[in-house]
Amino acid sequence: MRGNTRIGLAGMLFALASFHSAYAGNPFNGKAPYERFCMTCHGERGESKLIGVPNFSRGEVVISSTDPMLMRTIKNGKGVMPGFQGQIKDAEILDIIAYLRTMF
Ligand code: HEC
Repeated sequence: MRGNTRIGLAGMLFALASFHSAYAGNPFNGKAPYERFCMTCHGERGESKLIGVPNFSRGEVVISSTDPMLMRTIKNGKGVMPGFQGQIKDAEILDIIAYLRTMF
């Protein structure tokens, strides 16, 4: 039973990853840059490591934001969060956003 669930999930992620549109990132490619640039504050699964940081594992902010909205925040920063413009390529930010959407 457990194994089947895992295969099902992998299949679903694969289907998501192979679906391309102008704004669709690849969640598989988003994991590594997320862990490098975001994990210290946002936690391994988006559970939030600092007071005032939204909890992505509950979908906070991510559910109510479109990809372009998240893209803007990640590039420009917000409050204590630094902006990543010039540090992370747009395509890679989209991959990170796709990865955020797998956290809840
Ligand atoms: C230095 C700590 C820190 C790092 C590193 C960091 N963040 Fe944040 N992030 C924050 C804080 C603090 C907030 C809350 C900002 C606020 O609402 O004032 C936040 C908020 C957010 C939000 C919600 C924005 C909104 O519209 O409310 C998103 C999405 C986000 N971060 C994504 C990322 C991603 C993706 C990365 C890595 C590329 C990242 N963050 C790296 C601290 C950080």
